[in-house]
Amino acid sequence: MERWTAGPDGLEKAAATLARGGLVAFPTETVYGLGADARAGEAVARIYEAKGRPSFNPLIAHLASLDDALAQGNFDPAALRLAAAFWPGPLTLVVPAGPACTVCDLARAGLPTVALRVPSHPVAAALLRQVGVPVAAPSANRSGRISPTTAAHVASDLAGRVEAVLDGGATTVGVESTIVACLDDQSRLLRSGGVTREAIEAILDRPLASGLQGGALLAPGGLASHYAPRAALRLGATTVAGDEAVLDFGASLTGYPCVDRLDLSPARDLREAAANLFGYLRRLDAIGAARIAVAPVPEAGLGEAINDRLGRAAAPRD
Ligand code: TXA
Ligand code: MG
Repeated sequence: MERWTAGPDGLEKAAATLARGGLVAFPTETVYGLGADARAGEAVARIYEAKGRPSFNPLIAHLASLDDALAQGNFDPAALRLAAAFWPGPLTLVVPAGPACTVCDLARAGLPTVALRVPSHPVAAALLRQVGVPVAAPSANRSGRISPTTAAHVASDLAGRVEAVLDGGATTVGVESTIVACLDDQSRLLRSGGVTREAIEAILDRPLASGLQGGALLAPGGLASHYAPRAALRLGATTVAGDEAVLDFGASLTGYPCVDRLDLSPARDLREAAANLFGYLRRLDAIGAARIAVAPVPEAGLGEAINDRLGRAAAPRD
């Protein structure tokens, strides 16, 4: 797998690779994505293959601009308000696919809807402008593993399975985009993420509905066990055993003898904690401790997304 620096040369090689149906991992403000031309069924099939992902799980199509995104779907007034407020940025909108939608059936897993996002990361934005087509991109990790926030994480998961990674340094948000479905008279939160519930509800001027519609989960990718490190996670820890590694928050688990300790944010800054989350889980997992004790993280703001990912990482595996 090649590693290209995200300058003009790297961008050109990446765009050319995508244009001929290849796979390129690239940075977004949330996590690294594994990109393919979203119009091309064969290219998209290679994403599922490289990730080892169940093919019923639909992908997000990334666009260069608001106008490009609007051309793909039918946006109701709530979707338009959210797009205007948060794009470019870490928000994904699920809307009915429009008559001119070019995102292929496989990327949409056969659904009549499409997930759209306009990322703000300068490298992602430049790449999308250059390639000029929607780019399907799930997080650039093997299915069920922790999402990558650096090019090195991508290489450790996908080397030998994809052509290249475009290296744009560490991502800044650190958790995936928030996913909101605008498919009926409600706006439904399918996945918490980089844009907080509070910020979205302020724009909508009403609470978000849950992702359940008639009992069916609207985000098919919402598997309970996901983002899984090898080590078992013990959440809400207020003490530490000597054989545990510690994922701390706000220096609340200091002073215990333990295998190792990393603090998501000693100053209790949830943005800093989100940006550090996946990288620190990988580092603690690499030490080989059987268990990671995780300090409580408040549920407000970005804490909702952080706690969601920690809960999935702690869920029993099959
Ligand atoms: O921040 C992010 O969103 C990253 C970066 C690379 O953009 N991407 C990402 O993609 O997290 P992925 O594939 O790991 O997660 C996409 C989620 C899945 O849970 C999938 O089920 C859901 O989006 N999704 C995609 N299309 C959908 C649709 N039409 N209806 C409902 N859920 C959909
Ligand atoms: Mg993912």
